[in-house]
This record gives sequence, C-alpha cells and structure tokens, in this order.
Amino acid sequence: MKKTNSIRVFAPGKLMLLGEHAVVYGYPCISFAIDRGVTVELSEGLRADKVTSSVSDDRFIRVAKDVFFQKNAVRRVPMHITIKSEISGYGLGSSSAVAVATITALLQFYAISFSKQKVFDLSYEAVKKIQPKASGYDVATTIYGGVILFDGKTKQVKKINIKDFPFLVGFSTVKADTSTLVEQVSEQKERESQRIDAIFSSIGHLVKEGIQAFNNRDWKRLGGIMDENQRMLSMLGVSTNRLDEMIFVAKHHGALGAKLSGAGGGDCIIVLCWKNSKQIMYETLKKAGIPMVPLNFSSKGVRQL
Ligand code: MEV
Repeated sequence: MKKTNSIRVFAPGKLMLLGEHAVVYGYPCISFAIDRGVTVELSEGLRADKVTSSVSDDRFIRVAKDVFFQKNAVRRVPMHITIKSEISGYGLGSSSAVAVATITALLQFYAISFSKQKVFDLSYEAVKKIQPKASGYDVATTIYGGVILFDGKTKQVKKINIKDFPFLVGFSTVKADTSTLVEQVSEQKERESQRIDAIFSSIGHLVKEGIQAFNNRDWKRLGGIMDENQRMLSMLGVSTNRLDEMIFVAKHHGALGAKLSGAGGGDCIIVLCWKNSKQIMYETLKKAGIPMVPLNFSSKGVRQL
C-alpha cells in the first residue's frame, strides 16, 4: 500500500433537529451538518507519534487510531497529528468529528480505498469504545453532511434533499455531559418503562412528520414539531431552566419553533425562523441576553482539504 506525505481533512460539526434520546433506542432522528468543524492534519514523523490538539479530550484520536490499525494491516510509522477544532465545548459534535477526520486522514495517508460506509463503521466502532450507548447519528452526520434522516436501529442514512433552511443557534453556556444524560434517561426507562417508551414512540412520530414538513418546505409546521419535541424532552427531564428560558425568549420574539439540540442538560438550542427575519432575529435574541453562535448550514460532509 502506497503512503502519501501530509494529509489535511475537515469534518463538520452537527446539530440534532429532531429525535434525540429516542434514537439511542432504535427510533429515527433528523440531524444536519454545520459549516464549522474540526481539521486534522496528519504527516509521517521522525521518531515517536506526536499529537497536538486544541481539543481537551484526546481519547477520540487514540481510539480512532487503535481501531484503524486493528482493522487495516499496514506498517505503523511514527505520525504527527494536529487537530484544530472550531466547535469544542458547545455540544456540536467535536468528538465524532475528530474520530471521523482521523479515520479519513489515516485511510488517505495509507492510500486505502474507502466508502462512506467504511468510514462510518470504523469511526462508530471507535466512538462506541468511549460512549458505548452512542447511536452513531453524529458520526453519520459529519460523514454525509447536509440534512440526514438517521435510523437508530439499522444505522442507515437517508439524505434529505435541501440546500439550506432558516435556523439560529444559541448557547446555554453550560457544557453538557452526554454520557451522564443518556445514562439518566436509561435509568428512568428502567423505572418507568411504559411512560418512557410512549415518549420515545411520540418522538419517533414527530420525526416522520418532520420529514414531511422538510419535503414541503413547511417551516411553520416544522417549528410546531420542534416545539412538540421539546415538550417530550422536558418530560424526559433533560431540559434545564436555562434552556427553557432561552426557548421561551426565542418563541416570545416570534420564532417558528425552538428546542434543545443533543443530550440536553446544557449545550445549544436551535431556533427556527422565517428566512427573511433571520438577521433581525439573531440581533434581537442576542440583545435579549442569549449568547448566539454564528454558524450556518453545510451541505458537505467530511473532506480532504
Ligand atoms: C446526543 O447528541 C444525542 C443522544 O441521542 C445520544 C446519541 O444519539 O448518541 C442523546
């Protein structure tokens, strides 16, 4: 196998639009890629491996390398890996983006031919070593880009044909711990399985309705579905006072819909608005005290730079 010299790969961050938590139990979800993410640069070193990273949690680089070398019979050489993240600390999927970018860079470095499915399989295996219950939707989103419908059971991805849609992102200033929240929901499911199953099933229906709303470009309907999904997430106990307050403010100022994105407990909210009021809504929410995160939709997934 031929090795190339220096490889740079960019993997985008993600936001969860509908279906978090239920997707862990096999239900579908809708997520999308953003225009900010993680860049991994990989080159052959002289002596030992060296990792320089702006991401505090470097476990995802380690597991990505481990899985890659377990599954590919290549000669290990010392490597320099540099990771730069524009998304760490917001719950925007930096861990999965690091795993996907590292795996992609390694495949390119060793000139191994690959498909999106192969990158998914290797990256998902790596992520599960650290987050055993992870559904894999964030791995899929950073690989495929755009808006995806992800099946929590089969892990299949369906791309939704859309170039952009009008959303804004506000940050709660609290970094959520995904594993703790997933565990909390799992314990609750053990205690009250019927109630939690009913919530998951309703979330599953909302995702299906969300696809229709997307296909019809019906943002008002999609906003209503987001609000309903947020109500379910509150019932699961993963929203917080701060998230509720931000969502209330957004709705008060005319948002079509607003909900937390991801595990809950903190991180970001997504606000849906009319396209022509996006800029004004951004300024209004900022003035109302919501730390706004300037980012956009991206139709592109992981790629070599
Ligand atoms: C976290 O971003 C979303 C969860 O559904 C966990 C997962 O899908 O892996 C809570």
